[in-house]
This record gives sequence, C-alpha cells and structure tokens, in this order.
Amino acid sequence: MKITIDNQLIPFTSGQTILDAARSAGIDIPVLCFRERNNCRITPASCQVCLVKLDGKRFVPSCATKAEDGMVVESETDEVKQLRKTALELLLSEHYGDCAAPCQLACPAGLDIPKVLRAIQRNDFTEALDVIKQSALTVDCTNCRKPCETVCRRNGLDSAVSICRLISEVIPCDVLSSQATPQVISQAAAKMKWSVKRNKPSKEMLQTLENTARQLREAEGITETDSEIVQQANRCLHCDCLGKDKCSLLHYCALYNASPRRFSQQSETVPPIISGKIVYEMEKCIRCGVCIAVAEKNGEETGLSFIGRGYDVKVGVPFVRPLDAALQNSADEAAAMCPTGAMNLR
Ligand code: SF4
Ligand code: SF4
Ligand code: SF4
Ligand code: FES
Repeated sequence: MKITIDNQLIPFTSGQTILDAARSAGIDIPVLCFRERNNCRITPASCQVCLVKLDGKRFVPSCATKAEDGMVVESETDEVKQLRKTALELLLSEHYGDCAAPCQLACPAGLDIPKVLRAIQRNDFTEALDVIKQSALTVDCTNCRKPCETVCRRNGLDSAVSICRLISEVIPCDVLSSQATPQVISQAAAKMKWSVKRNKPSKEMLQTLENTARQLREAEGITETDSEIVQQANRCLHCDCLGKDKCSLLHYCALYNASPRRFSQQSETVPPIISGKIVYEMEKCIRCGVCIAVAEKNGEETGLSFIGRGYDVKVGVPFVRPLDAALQNSADEAAAMCPTGAMNLR
C-alpha cells in the first residue's frame, strides 16, 4: 500500500497513520498532543497542530487519521503551514509565562542565568560552571555593562540580583572561553529568537514569583545559609520556565514563527501548584489531556481529569486531593510526556 505525501510516494503498512508514513519518509509534521514513549502511544487529537490536507478537500489531524492506499496528502504547502501556525497561536492565546528569563535574553552571551543561580543555591559550583561552559558565546562578566542586572525582575521588588559578581566568583579565569558545540550555539540562538514573554509584571505578580521561588527552595530542602554567595543566589525569582529545555510548544512556535500576541488575552497570574516532586503551572497547560491519559494507563487510583467546561476547563484532581496523590506512580512519565512546561519535576 502506498500514500502520496507532498508528491512523494510512500509505502506504509496496515494500521499506520498519515503521521507514521510521513515520518518514515523524513517529513517532519509538528505534534503536541501526540506522544510516544516506550512503545506507548497517546493520541487525544486535541491540539490540531499536525493538520494536513487530504485529497485536496479537507484538513485532518495526521496523528489520528489512518493511512489508506492511494491517499494524496499535502503537508508542506503554505496553506497547511498557515493553519498549523494559527493552531499554535490559538494555544498561545491563553498561555502565560516566560520561556527564558529577562536576564538571559539580555545577556550578550545568552547565558542561562537562572540555571546557574539554581546550581549556586545547591552549592553545586561544578554544575554552575558546566552551565556557563554550555553558553552560546563566551561569558565575560568583568568586561560587560551588566544588561542582565538592568532588566532583572528583582528591581521591581528591591534591587537586582548581583548576577555578574556571582558569576565572576564562580568562574576560574582560565575557563572563560565557551566550549559549546556549533549545534548547541545554533539551537540556543533559535530558541532565544522566539520566546513567550510576560507583560510588565505588577508588584503582586513579583511577590507571587518570590513566594514560588521560596516554596521551590523549601521543597528541594535548600535551607537558609550563612554563605553570602548562596544568599544572593536565593534572591533570584526564577522568572524562566522550568520546562523550557523539553517544551515542544516552544520548539514548534519558533519553527513556525507563531505570534504569542495574535490572539492573546490578559489573565491573572496563577501560582503554580507544588505537590511532592511535581510542579504544575496551569498558565502553561494547553489542556491536551496527555497527563490524564498517562495516569489512566498506569491505573492510578485517583488520577486526573478535566474539570469545568468550555474555555474554563482545566486539568484537576478529583475530590480535591493533592496532585502527587493523583500521580503516585506516574509523575515522572506525565512530566516527561507533557508537551509544554506545564508539568515538571522540581
Ligand atoms: S511552556 Fe514552553 S512555550 Fe510556555 S513558557 Fe515554558 S518553554 Fe515557553
Ligand atoms: S530575578 Fe533571577 S531570573 Fe529573574 S531576571 Fe533576575 S536574575 Fe534573572
Ligand atoms: S499538564 Fe501538560 S500534559 Fe497535562 S494537559 Fe496540560 S499540557 Fe497536557
Ligand atoms: S498532535 Fe495531532 S492533534 Fe495534536
């Protein structure tokens, strides 16, 4: 049996989807709610970013449509790409947060500053140095005008985190030059070009970020300390997204140059839920249902479900139980399969 995708004749076997056939020919169709891991597939078909045009007539989700002999599919046309971009932009309309922290976006070397500060908080200076070495460009804080500190969100509460001083104290002089590979550099540059950014934060929102940062430290067992370096690192509000390194939404929005502002609506800041080792950020949830399916597949006693209707629907735990009780054996898998930074492990 054969299917034609973008004028390529592609063989497939019974039971395969259009997405399977496309992948076998190296055609990259974006997916968010379709997840595959350890031979397990989850296909809620809720996000619509994998749309293709079938037989020149209608649009179908390629992840949930079985391939049939003789089908003619368009995947890479401008029309299809525009629809996928719109699907991504609709998902972004209710999506709040920062992919990268303002300090990282301002840093001329693109350094993942909050990640360095998290390592310093744990007294893990080796990891802090590793993150610095992975930076896109050479980090040289001693010869920099400190734009990271100018834009630091902490200015809105009291004063900026002393980022450059902290980093200068961590870096031995002989490792200033970046060891990142060209591939890491180009991936970092692409990610930095596209980023969801919060509107200018109110004082209330900054206080929410500060509370969350403190709760995360407490949950990780990081206690107050006499070390001045660690105390300074503890002032960081961790404005970045915990899931930015695994986020498929970020990856495809960057690829399709989706505009976060096209359909965007204002919203209140909702504090994340920290439960056991799980961190759930409703503001970043695209309500795809993947985590619900993971809990169900693993036979969780409580599990998760959609609560509410229409625009107000959200992922929740029945009977107001804590999130970690709902995902007793599924937390790692749900976090790994969540296509955004909404569900993470701390
Ligand atoms: S969930 Fe993804 S798109 Fe959203 S803020 Fe986090 S990294 Fe960015
Ligand atoms: S508070 Fe932390 S993450 Fe936020 S801008 Fe300042 S240093 Fe960066
Ligand atoms: S938490 Fe993640 S997996 Fe669960 S519904 Fe939201 S986006 Fe999907
Ligand atoms: S990936 Fe196909 S509908 Fe979401």
